[in-house]
Formats: sequence, structure tokens, C-alpha cells
Amino acid sequence: MIIAIDGPAASGKGTLGKRLAHHYHFRHLDTGVIYRAVAKALLDAGADPADEALAVAAALELDPEKFGHPALKTQTVGEVASVVSAFPRVREALLTFQRQFAAEPPGAVLDGRDIGTVICPDADVKIFVVADPVVRARRRTLEARSRGEDADEAVVLADILKRDERDRNRSIAPLKAAADAHVLDNSNLDIEAGLKAAIAIVEAVKAAR
Ligand code: DC
Repeated sequence: MIIAIDGPAASGKGTLGKRLAHHYHFRHLDTGVIYRAVAKALLDAGADPADEALAVAAALELDPEKFGHPALKTQTVGEVASVVSAFPRVREALLTFQRQFAAEPPGAVLDGRDIGTVICPDADVKIFVVADPVVRARRRTLEARSRGEDADEAVVLADILKRDERDRNRSIAPLKAAADAHVLDNSNLDIEAGLKAAIAIVEAVKAAR
């Protein structure tokens, strides 16, 4: 079984994906990390983030062993990730890795922006997570502070809105719900309640088969 979870930055889709995978004993891939790894490679090399050829080269050389690196979670890396992810050739270079990950047994949960629309259009279950930008900014700020980073909620909110705009309006694989996705509004749900709602969606799909 393949479960696709898409949604905007800081919607809680990552934590949800991880918990859902754990619940079903499936493998989990936070696909944002892949774009973040490309961004970090460019930043580490002192390269121009707008250089598509260098970004493609970085995408082809990714090492999944490094996907857990805490530096991938920073605001700067996220911002550059949003830029490199708009390059069609970068997305193309990362497609096979994601599809192979999804296809391996016993099942997988992938979370991102275009899983239900582009990467796994035949996913068994598609969930599109939404949440109020103000709530997302608060969560992201608290997360950053818990890592010891300095974070100003107003700046985080502005960044989230800018990133939403870019992710939604890019010409390739924009952030949008697949026609057959189940929308989950996470604004007023804590992690446990969000997980419960997602499990209910998966179980309803299974029961309808
Ligand atoms: O979910 P995140 O904040 O870790 O994602 C970082 C950036 O990567 C995001 O701004 C857009 C991009 N991204 C994407 O284009 N497609 C995905 N499947 C996942 C992330």
C-alpha cells in the first residue's frame, strides 16, 4: 500500500507521515528532505542557488544516508529548497528515487507537495493536509526555538506565506490537492488527533475496497 501525504510547509504533514508509517509498519520518506539536501549541498559549496545545472548535479549525487542531518531543517535551507525545487530538471532527477522508495514492500508513506499528483498518482490513499498559516508559523517558531534557534514568529509567517505562494504557483508539480485526495484540516488538531483522523481516512479507504 502507498499512502501519499501532501500539504504546505509546517502543516504537520511530516510528523503525521512518520506516525502513520509507524502505525502501519510501513517505510516513511519525507520528500522535503531530498530538496533540502540539494539546497544544503549548494549552500555548502557556496554556489548560487539559482544555478540549475549545479542543482541538478547535486540532485544526482544525493546520499540518502545524510537525510537525517539536523542542519537540513533550518529556515535558510528550506528557503533555498523551495527555489531549487522549482527547477524541472531537479524534480526529474529525484523522481526515480522517490518512486522506487514507494514501490518497495511492505508499503510506504511519502509526504511532500506532489506525491498524490505526480510521484504516486496511483497511491492507494491520498491525504492533503491544510492548516491556518498563523498556526503553522507558531508551530514552526516553537520547533526552531526548541532547537535553540532564534525565531521571530512574524518573520516565520512571512516566510511561510512566501513559500506557499512559490510552491503553489510554480509551473511544474505545484502544491495542490489531487482530485481524489482527502483533505485533513490540521489547524485545531494536536498530533494524536491528527493521526487518529488520518488513520480513519486510511481505514475507510481499506473498508471500501
Ligand atoms: O516540506 P519542506 O518544508 O521540508 O519542503 C522544503 C521545500 O521543498 C518546499 O518549499 C518545496 C519543496 N518540496 C517540493 O517541491 N516537493 C516535495 N515533494 C517536497 C518538498
